[in-house]
Amino acid sequence: MTEIPSQRRRHPVNNDSKLPPEHDDPLLIDHEADGIMELDNLLPRWWVWLFYISIIFGFAYMGYYHVFRVGDLQATEYIKDSKKGDEIKHAALAKFESSIASLEPSKDTAIITKGQQVFVQMCAPCHRPDGGGLVGPNLCDDFWIHGSNYVDTLKTIINGVPEKGMVTWRGVLKPNEIQAAASYIYTLRGTEPPNPKPREDQIVPEKPSQFE
Ligand code: HEC
Repeated sequence: MTEIPSQRRRHPVNNDSKLPPEHDDPLLIDHEADGIMELDNLLPRWWVWLFYISIIFGFAYMGYYHVFRVGDLQATEYIKDSKKGDEIKHAALAKFESSIASLEPSKDTAIITKGQQVFVQMCAPCHRPDGGGLVGPNLCDDFWIHGSNYVDTLKTIINGVPEKGMVTWRGVLKPNEIQAAASYIYTLRGTEPPNPKPREDQIVPEKPSQFE
């Protein structure tokens, strides 16, 4: 049965109202604030249904996540996702490290530029932007503490030499950043930066260096 507006009305028309007669609508509710009045309209059906559905959804949500704990809350989801992310990262690193032996320094200018950016940002504080050496050794000469070939350089960068102050970059830099930085170091070889750090190698080189 559809209600007719006059039946829904709970308040009698205020006959003492000082408002003009056009305000005497049968739907008008008998209260007023600063001259603003309200009509007792029915709420639209769609709105009421949306309201019911949101109540049902609210209970379902509470049951699913908080009462029966079927679904994961944000914190658990975060832990699970980061674990998954770590696994992917470790798998990628393991794959990279097992393929190191077959890698060669890149000559691609985009990769060298990327390597330079990594070097200047991450390595220059210890090796100097020109590779001349500061805390870390000179990377431009022919003398290498940990071996001069590309694979040795990659291994040194990945594993670091923590006891001597060389950072372990495994997991800090991405494999492509490590390769780029190592390729960039190769371009520094043979350059002659001013005031280079004296040689620190333990291996006798085949050809003498200008710094000897
Ligand atoms: C906190 C200082 C520090 C930072 C930062 C650093 N290094 Fe080093 N690095 C060192 C030290 C110290 C050594 C020498 C280790 C030794 O004596 O065994 C070294 C050694 C090396 C070597 C081996 C050199 C040789 O003679 O065999 C390479 C290659 C190298 N670093 C590359 C890098 C790269 C690439 C980065 C940046 C991603 C970097 N380093 C960042 C301190 C640093």
